[in-house]
Amino acid sequence: MEIRELSPGIFEIALGEKRVLATLNLTPGRTVYGEQLIRDGDREYRAWSPYRSKLAAAILKGIRNVPLSPGSRVLYLGVASGTTCSHVSDIVGPEGHVWGVDFAHRPLRDLIDNLSRYRGNISPILGDARRPESYSALVPRVDLIYADVAQPDQALIVAKNAELYLKPTGWAMMAIKSRSVDVTLPPQQVYDEQVEGLRTRGFEVLEVVELKPYERDHAMAVARYRG
Ligand SMILES: C[S@@+](CC[C@H](N)C(=O)[O-])C[C@H]1O[C@@H](n2cnc3c(N)ncnc32)[C@H](O)[C@@H]1O
Repeated sequence: MEIRELSPGIFEIALGEKRVLATLNLTPGRTVYGEQLIRDGDREYRAWSPYRSKLAAAILKGIRNVPLSPGSRVLYLGVASGTTCSHVSDIVGPEGHVWGVDFAHRPLRDLIDNLSRYRGNISPILGDARRPESYSALVPRVDLIYADVAQPDQALIVAKNAELYLKPTGWAMMAIKSRSVDVTLPPQQVYDEQVEGLRTRGFEVLEVVELKPYERDHAMAVARYRG
C-alpha cells in the first residue's frame, strides 16, 4: 500500500486504482460516520470523504495553506455532529485540542455520544458563535479558527471570535455557502463579499478555493490574522 503524507497528519493512500484522503485514527477500531478504516501494520487510518467534509474537499482542490498539524489548538464554529471535527481531532492528535461550538442541541448530543466521549482532545460547547464572550471561561487562545456556520454574517462571527481567542498571526478557515448568504447573487459575488468582510476586519486572505465538484456553490477561504 502506498501512503503519502500531504501535510503533517494528512495522508493520501493509494488503494488499487483509487486514491483516498485519510487521517490517522486516534481511536483505532472505531468509526465515526461509517467511513472506511484502512490498516497498515500497527497504524490505522480513517478515509476522509470530500463529499462529507468541506475541509477534505478544500485539501483535494489543492489549497496551499493547511494551517493544522499535530499539537494545533483549534476553535471550531459550527461543529455539528463532528464529521469534519473527527478528522481535525485525528490531525491535531493528543497534544492538540479542538473546542467545538454549536447552538443546536441535537447534533451536539450526537457529537458527545459518538465522538468526544472517546477522545480527550475535543471539548464540545453548546453556545452561540455570535456571542463568543459566553464561552470565555472554556476557550484559550488558539492557532486556528475553523468556521462552518453557514450564516450570512459569518465574517463578523469569525472576527468577533478572533478578537477574543485567536493568537496574533493565527489563522482562520471559513467555509462559504453562497446560498446561505444570498440565493439571488452569483456565487462568485458572494465569495468576494465574504472575503472582503474578513479583509476589513483584520485578516489577510491568502486563498479562496471553490469546492465543486464535491460541494456546489461553496468555497473555502484561508486567512491570516493581523490582530
Ligand atoms: C453546515 S453545518 C456544519 C457541518 C460541520 N462543520 C461538518 O463539516 O461536519 C453548520 C452548523 O452550524 C451551526 N450554527 C449555525 N449558526 C450558528 C451559531 N450562530 N452558533 C453556533 N452554531 C451555529 C448549525 O447548528 C449547524 O450544526
